[in-house]
Amino acid sequence: MHILVTGGAGFIGSHTVVALTKAGHKVVVADNLSNSKIETIATLEHIIGQKIEFHQVDVTEEQAVEKLFEQNKFHGVIHFAGLKAVGESVQKPLMYYMNNLISTMVVAKACVKYGVHKFVFSSSATVYGDNEAPFYEGMDLLPTTNPYGETKAMSERILMDLAKATPDFGVSLLRYFNPIGAHESGLIGELPNGVPNNLMPFVTQVASGKREQLQVFGDDYDTVDGSGVRDYIHVMDLAEGHVAAIEQLNAGTHVYNLGTGYGTSVLELIAAFEKANNIKVPYKIVDRRPGDIATCYADAKKAKNKLGWVAKRDIEQMCKDSWHFETKQLTETV
Ligand code: NAD
Ligand code: UD1
Repeated sequence: MHILVTGGAGFIGSHTVVALTKAGHKVVVADNLSNSKIETIATLEHIIGQKIEFHQVDVTEEQAVEKLFEQNKFHGVIHFAGLKAVGESVQKPLMYYMNNLISTMVVAKACVKYGVHKFVFSSSATVYGDNEAPFYEGMDLLPTTNPYGETKAMSERILMDLAKATPDFGVSLLRYFNPIGAHESGLIGELPNGVPNNLMPFVTQVASGKREQLQVFGDDYDTVDGSGVRDYIHVMDLAEGHVAAIEQLNAGTHVYNLGTGYGTSVLELIAAFEKANNIKVPYKIVDRRPGDIATCYADAKKAKNKLGWVAKRDIEQMCKDSWHFETKQLTETV
């Protein structure tokens, strides 16, 4: 298939470009580089051993997006482009609503206009809100606690309505759990701007000495050890989930959790990281982070049954690959 990957220079998009080309698909990447670097494209070309067609394009801009569709006969689109920092979305809600909703509508509109009938969307487990885990696709969604989460819930509804109204149009809403890890080469991975918000980038930066100490946000949740429980998934497993989703996409709306089905607590993750990499991660327990829920993990059966996809890489592998990426960054910046 010939696939447009918006946000393909970012963390999940870049790994998905690797998985798509490995599966024999041809990709065009469109990214405005607002949260990624142009160098990633050359690194991707090095990993996959072929050139990538890259366009520095803001996909909220209708004319620029239409031009891509005029120049290429796409079979499908994977729409990763979006802003994703939860805290920033509370400070700058309009920026989040405009970027994340308009990009989704502009790309979907171009799909309809140019007869492209496969649309895969990056949603998030955040749309489940504070439901009781395991989260399954058919459960009622609860309100999210921030504008970022709202952009995901709203985008899902917009795309569902479009699929209902457009014969042959197929939408796959992929609800990601917590992606960590990196490609086995250690050449691509997550590169957060400034202080990381998410747990694993913080852990690797503490382990490398870039930061002094990890703060564990709360040890009084009703969980195995009081710290928050999440379903961490290796980013390459997540990437392969996209390949399965687009290859099997047909008309209508299809919702899939992409998670492992297992929860790991913050303290368990720290211990696994220390063991896998034989390195200490100093931490202290602090207050809960506002907006966090106690437990979030997937019921991963639907993706297994319908797509034949399961996450294969375990927590040890995720910890090793995250650390491998961090150490490669260190040697390159020295
Ligand atoms: P990322 O920031 O690394 O990648 C997103 C990419 O989109 C970046 O390269 C950025 O430059 C680009 N982009 C943003 N707005 C754009 C625009 N208007 N036009 C063109 N490019 C634009 O983030 P990621 O972790 O790879 O996430 C990818 C998608 O998955 C996002 O939509 C995110 O909300 C969603 N998601 C991520 C997670 C996670 O934990 N990383 C979890 C659930 C959902
Ligand atoms: C966060 C977002 C969620 C988004 C997801 C993936 C919030 C409230 N939620 O989810 O919307 O989809 O990222 O981008 O921000 N933790 C620490 N110390 C840290 C960082 C995190 O103890 O320095 C804990 C958290 O309390 C949580 C776990 O680690 O229990 C995972 O946190 P994080 O990586 O930020 O992901 P989520 O909170 O699941």
